[in-house]
Amino acid sequence: MANPFPEHFFWGAATSAPQSEGGQYEGGRSASTWDKWFELEPENFNSNQGPKNTTNVFDRYKEDTKLMSDINLNSYRTSISWNRLLPDGKTLNPQAVQYYRDYFKRLRDQGVEPIINLFHFDMPWWLMEKGGWENRESIDHFAFYARIAFEQFGDLVHYWTTFNEPIVHVTCGYLGEYHWPKVNNLKRAVQVAHHTNLAHAAAVVEFRKLGIEGKIGNILNLSPVYAKSNQAEDLQAKLNAETLHVKSFLEPTVNGEYPEHLITLLKDNDLLPHTLDGDKELISKGKVDFLGVNYYQPIRVEAVPTDEVNHPATSLGDFSRHYNWPEKKMNPYRGWEIYPEGIYDIAMMIKEDYGNIPFYISENGMGVSEEERFADDKGIIQDDYRIEFIYDHLANVQKAIDAGANCFGYHLWTFIDCWSWLNGYRNRYGFYRLILETGERIPKKSAFWIKDVIQQNQLIKLNQYDKGE
Ligand code: BG6
Repeated sequence: MANPFPEHFFWGAATSAPQSEGGQYEGGRSASTWDKWFELEPENFNSNQGPKNTTNVFDRYKEDTKLMSDINLNSYRTSISWNRLLPDGKTLNPQAVQYYRDYFKRLRDQGVEPIINLFHFDMPWWLMEKGGWENRESIDHFAFYARIAFEQFGDLVHYWTTFNEPIVHVTCGYLGEYHWPKVNNLKRAVQVAHHTNLAHAAAVVEFRKLGIEGKIGNILNLSPVYAKSNQAEDLQAKLNAETLHVKSFLEPTVNGEYPEHLITLLKDNDLLPHTLDGDKELISKGKVDFLGVNYYQPIRVEAVPTDEVNHPATSLGDFSRHYNWPEKKMNPYRGWEIYPEGIYDIAMMIKEDYGNIPFYISENGMGVSEEERFADDKGIIQDDYRIEFIYDHLANVQKAIDAGANCFGYHLWTFIDCWSWLNGYRNRYGFYRLILETGERIPKKSAFWIKDVIQQNQLIKLNQYDKGE
């Protein structure tokens, strides 16, 4: 028998407003960048599935909060849509206030602790037209939005987070084509990252000023970085990747300052962002009470061959290269490595190097294509692969807790299959299956399994579960 999880462990699932809310232009909501991008270039999105086709929580939250308690979830993370709460960035939308208040209250009534995030890749269009995070004004706009959210919902929400995976809108939007504005420019990416770190800190400052009950955190995608070998060049690549991909947001968030090596790398490559007096002080005020850790896969790196390095760097590929570990196990649908031990390594890094700050696993999950082929005659998806995936990751969470890690919860990505950006509904992640045509929600086998795990507060092996033990 496995050990029980700590008392009051947060069992739950995560989603975001843009991926689940729907009600695209209803209730006074203005456009986000995703709405506009889809209108401009629908062909970029899987099967023309745009942000309008989401789980439609806006209309169905009353039913959905009930579905959470049906499977014993005691916590849930979603986000507020900035462009719903403040459609023009300044004017409070009373319909949004009413919707979110009722939603969060119903979560509480069902015994589900809401963890509410402020920004999940969804820049309001009016602000994107002014340059989005590249424009320094975005910091003040975000701080204003954060303050309004804290004031309006602070009595119902006691766990706040500022960003989800803030490095992703930097890399996908300014070093790739997965997010608008599809720019590829390292210098601009660094500026966006700096403004995002400042916006995070400015929101924390607003939170502390209001003195409301609760805690504030930041949700980071923290992957352990493994080098191909112990040779100096590979270890240097590891240090670079760790600094750029992990610590660039982790250190400001926990320690209130940028890592020295980051500053050295940026200086050396003429990439330092434009800063103002006071930036350093503001960053120092962004220290959080807890971390959300999204973990899907590790980062594996090797040295960049010397004759291929650009100096000054023009892309992240000048600092480290992806190492294709021959022994890796893959999720073939999403193309991501499955390495449950990584969650233990991250937990130990937080314990040893970051003062054992409290954290929870805010996302972990397995996206699978064409999942309907696994449905039984009652329409229940027999997702044994997902149960095994969760089991293996939770076993490592437990091992970390036993070794002293301060982990207070585990959330699956996601609750009900949701819309996944450019991938639309290609990969399904939920405890509940979504029937696209009708919006019906049907629990998968993993939903029944997690219900029992939560009830026992203990892991249950799939073969024991099948036998009903
Ligand atoms: C996380 C994001 O990184 O991964 C989610 O926070 C996202 O928004 C999830 O949906 C799964 O990735 P994808 O690309 O398959 O949707």
